[in-house]
Amino acid sequence: MVRLLVTGGCGFIGSNFIRWLLADDPNVTVVNFDKLTYAGNPENLASVSESDRYDFRQGDISDRDSVDEVLKEFSIDSIVNFAAESHVDRSILDSTPFVHTNIGGTQVLIDSARTNGIDRFVQVSTDEVYGSLGDTGEFSEDTPLAPNSPYAASKTAADLLLRAAVHTHGFPGMITRCSNNYGPYQFPEKLIPLFISNALQHQPLPVYGDGTNVRDWIHVDDHCRGIAAVLRSGEPGDIFNFGGRSELSNIGLTRRLLELLDRPETLIRFVPDRPGHDKRYAIDCSRAEKMLGWKPLVSFEEGLKSTVDWYLQNSEWVDRVRSGAYREYYEEQYGDRLAGE
Ligand code: NAD
Ligand code: DAU
Repeated sequence: MVRLLVTGGCGFIGSNFIRWLLADDPNVTVVNFDKLTYAGNPENLASVSESDRYDFRQGDISDRDSVDEVLKEFSIDSIVNFAAESHVDRSILDSTPFVHTNIGGTQVLIDSARTNGIDRFVQVSTDEVYGSLGDTGEFSEDTPLAPNSPYAASKTAADLLLRAAVHTHGFPGMITRCSNNYGPYQFPEKLIPLFISNALQHQPLPVYGDGTNVRDWIHVDDHCRGIAAVLRSGEPGDIFNFGGRSELSNIGLTRRLLELLDRPETLIRFVPDRPGHDKRYAIDCSRAEKMLGWKPLVSFEEGLKSTVDWYLQNSEWVDRVRSGAYREYYEEQYGDRLAGE
């Protein structure tokens, strides 16, 4: 039996990972360790909360005592670290929590994992560590690190701390770097769930700049399968890129969403750009294909349609997460942008 600690498991990817892994592998128990920030929602795990292979502990990965305690209490042997501040726009408004969790928290986890003799540690990183591409080319695992936002810089720092632990201490750590995820349970601050939920409420869709920035979209289930493959068969120091081979401009994606939702293009608003906005991401995931036998299985068409259907069927989930502090964030991020259009 693998005794796995998943950090940040109440967020978007972590909760999809836990549900998927418990169904996929009867030989794993999962302890979910999550601070429950604005992005952490225990409701995302309602379907597994009664499982005898699942436990939850609320805690902060930068609190060494709590991390030590949970590793000992459950005799944890493996860790997947999803816990992070994950939104680029929020890192531009205030980068402090990004440094605290993404850098400080990751180092605490590594230190505690080493002291407690953890066998395997997967750091869930991002393609944003590579910076931005022009019109051509793809990021490989050997692309130099050149992060552009405070979020990306904090994730890069965490990758380098993990690399140093592998080099210095022989720490059994691996890194995954994935492109933009989409799917159910994504917090509606990110492009796809924000635009779906705004469109459903007949609210404007704020497209940054001219909408020509390109992202490489991957369904969250494909990312989860990749992380599990690295957890099972990665070697210390390994780095694997994951991507969906589905490049699309933001404006192209926005039009597709409006079509699926049967809403008019008059909802589109071009608003002032994100400062330092990366132009294009594209992922070369051939190393994962060759070494892990992994490949993306969900086509963008089918994945986007099922994601839209999920948001249509879960309007109460959306209403609950769009209340309270979300409204304050929305006003701070979009108030002036939309007022000045
Ligand atoms: P999310 O914002 O939806 O969830 C983050 C989770 O971490 C939340 O449950 C939150 O409560 C928890 N958390 C935050 N600070 C914590 C702390 N100090 N201690 C414990 N828990 C804490 O994020 P997501 O989109 O699910 O991303 C998960 C991970 O995947 C992140 O590390 C992110 O950098 C990485 N990633 C995300 C994407 C994407 O497209 N969303 C792509 C590649 C990599
Ligand atoms: O590439 C992986 C990264 O993808 C992850 O590491 C991050 O955690 C995740 O948030 C995501 O980052 P992005 O900044 O690419 O995602 P976001 O959904 O915020 O934006 C996607 C694109 O859409 C980006 O070009 C900015 C644009 N955008 C976004 C929002 C929220 C808009 O035009 N308008 C918006 O309101």
